[in-house]
Amino acid sequence: MANMESSASKWTKKHLLGLEGLSAEEITLILDQAAEFKRLAAAGETKLSPLAGTVVANLFFENSTRTKTSFSLAAKRLSADTIDFTASGSSLSKGETFFDTARNIEAMGANQVVVRHGTPGAPHLLAKHVDVAVLNAGDGTHEHPTQALLDIFTVREQRGSLEGLTVTLVGDILHSRVARSNIWGLTKLGADVIVCGPSTLIPPEVERLGVRVSNSLDEVLAETDCINLLRIQFERQRNAYFPSIREYAHFFGMNGDRIQRAKDDVVILAPGPINRGVEITPDVADGSHSVILDQVTNGLVIRMACLYLLHQRQQELATQEATA
Ligand code: CP
Repeated sequence: MANMESSASKWTKKHLLGLEGLSAEEITLILDQAAEFKRLAAAGETKLSPLAGTVVANLFFENSTRTKTSFSLAAKRLSADTIDFTASGSSLSKGETFFDTARNIEAMGANQVVVRHGTPGAPHLLAKHVDVAVLNAGDGTHEHPTQALLDIFTVREQRGSLEGLTVTLVGDILHSRVARSNIWGLTKLGADVIVCGPSTLIPPEVERLGVRVSNSLDEVLAETDCINLLRIQFERQRNAYFPSIREYAHFFGMNGDRIQRAKDDVVILAPGPINRGVEITPDVADGSHSVILDQVTNGLVIRMACLYLLHQRQQELATQEATA
């Protein structure tokens, strides 16, 4: 536990709202803490007790498979009690608001609240109105910090470091919170980031975030070390952004032919859910370059690290308050 305590004492944030507000050192602290949890799990220490006696509430106002279940399992691995709230079947249908829902969960004794919401900034607003620690599990098109952290952790695991790597984010950059969080995290850790997709799905002035733009996957394939294939976010699109899915897959889908033309050791990532035959063909998704399921595995230790660091900070703040 010595490593865990020393990394926790360097963490000073009460909430985890996005990677935009974190320094390279803070991001690295989370990655190192996750690596420590992964090492402990490999040594058979899968059940740890730092969050015993605390409550982690998952408040999901949008659908999720990976993020919700892995936050829930991460909390259990750290011995917290968990509350799993989903909007469907809740009293939202009777007119209860987002804030009242969150306040009621807080009143049940939650210490940390994991929030996914369709509105950008919803977790940030909540953090201003509740005493609990808030973790952003995806807010509209804005940020999905733990997804980017697990993506970056997986790349670091494959390559040792992010410094100098070229990472290409392909697809619906305009509507993707995963893209935004990846851009913040990857550039802070020294990677060169290319965003690639139809011009209609690239946000205006995205270069200001320190990335290059390409509208041709074939053009950037040979120089790319890691390709992160983002899903087309049909649920957030109000217009037609490209003529057809077939054409999108033809120009921007990762397939066996493009794997042949990519670097020999190219790493293929996708945040999931994947749409087989659209952004990625099944042979690539299940092939030797794919680390898609490693990302899911790593999501667990990343979320354990986030819950653990925020819990330790809460303890420090409570001690400071008691002794003030
Ligand atoms: N990648 C991701 O956020 O997946 P879920 O929507 O299933 O949580």
